[in-house]
Amino acid sequence: MIDIHCHILPKADHGSYSLEDSLKQLKTAHKYGIKSIICTPHFYPFNDSIDKFLTRRDKAYDELSAVNDTEIKLYKGAEVRLVTGLSKQKKIKKLAFENSNYILIEMPSSIWNNMLLNEIANLQSIGLTVIIAHIERYSFRQVQKLMALDVLGQINAYSLYSPVQAWRIRKYIRKSMVDFIASDTHIYNYFLTFRFLKKSRFILGSSYTKFMDNAAKLIV
Ligand SMILES: [Fe+2]
Repeated sequence: MIDIHCHILPKADHGSYSLEDSLKQLKTAHKYGIKSIICTPHFYPFNDSIDKFLTRRDKAYDELSAVNDTEIKLYKGAEVRLVTGLSKQKKIKKLAFENSNYILIEMPSSIWNNMLLNEIANLQSIGLTVIIAHIERYSFRQVQKLMALDVLGQINAYSLYSPVQAWRIRKYIRKSMVDFIASDTHIYNYFLTFRFLKKSRFILGSSYTKFMDNAAKLIV
């Protein structure tokens, strides 16, 4: 099992406030059978710079890797909030998942206008493949604006336990808008989110297998 969206790095964001928090998360992930984790701390372009973020993330990654006594392989990534002008940032490609061109993008909760949607096309034009984080969080009215764009979609396993979001997940899977499932773990919900990621196999069946196969291609 591979988790491609996970807030587990110590003090890199609000996912973990200490190394102990991160170790608790890691041990639980291991207990539920996760073999690889792409660590995706939040990057908010409006109050952080890419340089500062990368320094903080890499330090946290090294700190956790040094004490990781599970067999879980850790990879570097980020969850990047989409804002206009994002693609113009010089080092934007460094926010892609380690050794790849895949970038995890978090959409704002406000209405997505054309300027914002153009930003996705701009990211693609510089060679990035855009994965929309927890696509089920957004209404179909919003999500259909993404259909003309060649994006990939990621769902959070725990959303399968919320009626509205589970309904959206079914709909978005039918419309081939979902490519990945992940935990989106933070310290306040790590136990349930890892558990749900494991259990989602029984809810999603062959779709789950496909999502995990897709995830495996990100970490070669
Ligand atoms: Fe997240």
